[in-house]
Amino acid sequence: MVANALWHEPLRRAAELIRQSRRVIALVGAGMSVDSGIPTFRGPGGLWQRVGEPSDDDFRDFLEDPEAWLQRRMTPGGAESEMLQGLLNAQPNAGHRALAKLEAEGIVQFLVTQNVDDLHARAGSRQLAEIHGNIAKTRCLDCGSRQPFDIASGQAWPLGTCPSCGGTMKTDAVLFGEPIPADVMTRCEQEVARSDCMLLLGTSAGVFPAAGLPLALRKKGGRLIEINPYVTDISSDCEVVIRASTTDALPALVSMLVGE
Ligand code: APR
Repeated sequence: MVANALWHEPLRRAAELIRQSRRVIALVGAGMSVDSGIPTFRGPGGLWQRVGEPSDDDFRDFLEDPEAWLQRRMTPGGAESEMLQGLLNAQPNAGHRALAKLEAEGIVQFLVTQNVDDLHARAGSRQLAEIHGNIAKTRCLDCGSRQPFDIASGQAWPLGTCPSCGGTMKTDAVLFGEPIPADVMTRCEQEVARSDCMLLLGTSAGVFPAAGLPLALRKKGGRLIEINPYVTDISSDCEVVIRASTTDALPALVSMLVGE
């Protein structure tokens, strides 16, 4: 993949910074999956721009009455059904595959994704934390166990009791107002503590606690590299900014670093 003349120079500087770094991790957002047919939430054409952001009471409403919550979720033609259609038909794109290649080559050591679409795992990434969960898994709110779940099986938002402990089972995807599972948050913080460079790939970097990860790395002198076609809240904190799609820039970065 040849870099576009518009962003060849920043890509070259990013490659240099990555080579100089001791340990590189990535924070990924919805922009990574745009070219897999899944809408972003913010920025031009974003889902929340069009239908409004869910309330922080979403998780409390689920706990109060899971069946009623599901009914509301499944309103035909609503934002959820657009998101669901995207998720059901999505395939990993060249950006996901390039990121898996950077892991396989030992260039990117760990990946924190805010996406629930399972596309990184399907593209081959293994050193991965899904900070907002994964729609292709269920999670028990009592014992924490996670099980694979097929969203194409008809009911995309699983309800019911945990097969291991009989507790409350839900989608592993984190709802608005739901705490990030402690095991995942701890791992993300440990990875930031061990790293000195973070790639910010297709994220508006405005939703905490995920958005706190690049700030924590920056605060201890780590360096940030952003790949995003648009300016974000964190662009000014980044040492290198590549104004491009991750689908184009990541394969070009692989070519520059691995020569393929
Ligand atoms: N390549 C890279 N980035 C892109 C592309 C692309 N082709 N197209 C759009 N973008 C960028 C947008 O400019 C925007 O900055 O992707 C970003 C998407 O931002 P958001 O929609 O806010 O997604 P994200 O950062 O993942 O949001 C974090 O918010 O609503 C919650 O749980 C949801 O995980 C999500 C979290």
